[in-house]
Amino acid sequence: MSISRTVISDGEIARQERFMEEAAELIASRESPAYALVDTYGCQQNEADSEKLRGMLVRMGYTLTRDAAEADVIVINTCAVREHAEQRVLGNVGALTHTKKAKPDQIICLCGCMMQQAGMAEKIKASYRHVSLVFGPHVLWRFPEYLLKLLRDGGRIFATDASDGVIAEGLPSVRDSAVKAWLPIMYGCNNFCSYCIVPHVRGRERSRAPGDVLAEARRLVEAGYKDLTLLGQNVNSYGKGLPETVDFSDLLERINAIPGDFLIRFMTSHPRDAGEKLFSTMARCEKCARHIHLPFQSGSDRVLSAMNRHYTREDYLALVRMARQYMPDLVLTSDVIVGFPGETEEEFEDTLSLVSEVGFDALFTFIFSPRVGTPAASMPDPFTREEKQRRFDRLVALQNAVSEKRHAAYVGSVQRVLVDGREGEYLTSRTSGGRLVRLRGGDKLIGTFRSVEITGSNTWALYGELREED
Ligand code: SAM
Ligand code: SF4
Ligand code: F3S
Repeated sequence: MSISRTVISDGEIARQERFMEEAAELIASRESPAYALVDTYGCQQNEADSEKLRGMLVRMGYTLTRDAAEADVIVINTCAVREHAEQRVLGNVGALTHTKKAKPDQIICLCGCMMQQAGMAEKIKASYRHVSLVFGPHVLWRFPEYLLKLLRDGGRIFATDASDGVIAEGLPSVRDSAVKAWLPIMYGCNNFCSYCIVPHVRGRERSRAPGDVLAEARRLVEAGYKDLTLLGQNVNSYGKGLPETVDFSDLLERINAIPGDFLIRFMTSHPRDAGEKLFSTMARCEKCARHIHLPFQSGSDRVLSAMNRHYTREDYLALVRMARQYMPDLVLTSDVIVGFPGETEEEFEDTLSLVSEVGFDALFTFIFSPRVGTPAASMPDPFTREEKQRRFDRLVALQNAVSEKRHAAYVGSVQRVLVDGREGEYLTSRTSGGRLVRLRGGDKLIGTFRSVEITGSNTWALYGELREED
């Protein structure tokens, strides 16, 4: 697979900055403040993109809001990974006809993976006439230009031309948290798992230059962020196609060398490209969180081959053994698909037995959703939705029992946690392995590492008490 790496020039980004300034002048000349809402579906990559959209909107003079009725601009950043996500988006976009009616100048924008799918822009053009702007992930950096044109001239813009994808540096960003930050290190995917739409909508795999990643990591640490999550669909293939020879483990090592007390997380790792160098680097780097999210997708060799995953059940189990040799306290989470076309009862039981054998701390379970344009969507699929749902329920019940047991084993131990927010009466915090620990305390603890004694647990969370007086 060829490596394409188109970096948007500094001149183009400077042009977008001028558009942001012009929009800000226009907004400032209005009598009342202008509000913008960004709503996000899908994965962390989309969350990171939405932070950039918010950054651009704030530069253009908008105040951020969560209220669709108040918003002058609404941006919906969509996901195409499963049908359910798409239906939620279309339902919510349909409901915006009411806000548009009450506020005819409202500008409704749709972007993200779903918009890059074949035929979707045409569908929006014909059936969702209250939507003014549609753009795909490859032109997110041109958002200021599109919005300014709509502010000045009105009309509708559709920008979803096919592209292998680009890298755009230097866009502003408004981050959701002051403690945890997303840090994309690469974009796109070349794996073409037979069920997955992501490579079709996000373009070819391409890595940011290590200098740009390191500079951003350093800025985040200096700004007080304590938890950096490096993002990519397949972080283990970081570095391919870059002018300098550098791989993901080298990048981890360089980020680990940045002075300061912070954690480095990453997702996602493809089992095909994970190995000894990664695990030994993680074990050696004291800032690397003791967590790996390693999707296995199926426990059956036949299904794995039909999924185009390029590893066997035994390869996966051997990888887990190796990872645990290097890091006995490693927290392991994974993704799995139930009901891949033609998956038999026996093949599903191979998935159940893999889940029992590995003992994941948590599992993200999905029922197969056919995605138009992917090979799996046209594979024969004799099993009914009800049969798949029954299997799904069995898998979830098994994993819940495993998670409950693994969480119970924490009770009585002392964990170093990062306090990251509040949910009602509890502060929320995370162990190095990413386990949620709820505890009582004041908001001033948010953003600090603390020692906590684990006093209780259930399937989804741990409960703890601060050890030191605060
Ligand atoms: N790049 C990551 C990887 O390979 O592990 C994950 C990307 S995808 C956004 C997240 C998860 O969604 C996948 O691991 C897979 O389990 C699930 N998924 C992707 N396509 C799916 C489909 N068509 N139906 C059901 N689940 C799907
Ligand atoms: Fe999709 Fe596979 Fe790429 Fe993950 S590695 S984004 S599942 S094609
Ligand atoms: Fe969805 Fe796109 Fe992420 S399809 S899961 S938002 S890469």
